[in-house]
Amino acid sequence: MTGPQVRDYIRTIPDFPREGVMFRDVTTLFADPRGFGLTIDQLVNPYAGHRIDKVVGLEARGFILGGAVAHRLSAGFVPVRKQGKLPGAVIREAYKLEYGEAVMEIHDDALRAGEQVLIVDDLLATGGTAGAGITLCRRLGTQVVGCAFVIDLPDLGGRARIEAMDMQVHTLCA
Ligand code: PRP
Ligand code: ADE
Repeated sequence: MTGPQVRDYIRTIPDFPREGVMFRDVTTLFADPRGFGLTIDQLVNPYAGHRIDKVVGLEARGFILGGAVAHRLSAGFVPVRKQGKLPGAVIREAYKLEYGEAVMEIHDDALRAGEQVLIVDDLLATGGTAGAGITLCRRLGTQVVGCAFVIDLPDLGGRARIEAMDMQVHTLCA
């Protein structure tokens, strides 16, 4: 008896936010107590027993997952946000989107040099967002122990891009 797996709770909505995109909607996963619990268990699993000082969540769905993962690992939670959202002094990193550029920011005092960090988000596509997150954490002198995602979209090359940054990638489903 295995029951539904993480992927079974995720729905795909065609042509959102624009034609041709198959949007992976995790609201149905988060809304189900078993699905959400299973997800957090599986995200935490490889890091249980390791020293993680801070979980860094990537806006916006990485906040929901990252908060729960941080609690389970007895770590603090730190947000990486889109430009202009954080109130204090920040460092920023620009990254490429399919069309144009975006910027992610972190408070410059959110992490201390030497801390061990786990980065969490819902989905790895091109890896641009996660790459910016890794760079921000490294610029603050931390050791990024790994990056954990619920969904990998392998055709978009994100895993290869993040592994090329000498980073371990943990994903739950494709
Ligand atoms: C989605 C997803 C990841 C990112 C992955 O967020 O939650 O953060 O895209 O794409 P990438 O690997 O190509 O960078 P989105 O930019 O839609 O922002 P949101 O969560 O604030 O809606
Ligand atoms: N971010 C980038 N591509 C996505 C997709 N297909 N579904 C959900 N979020 C995404």
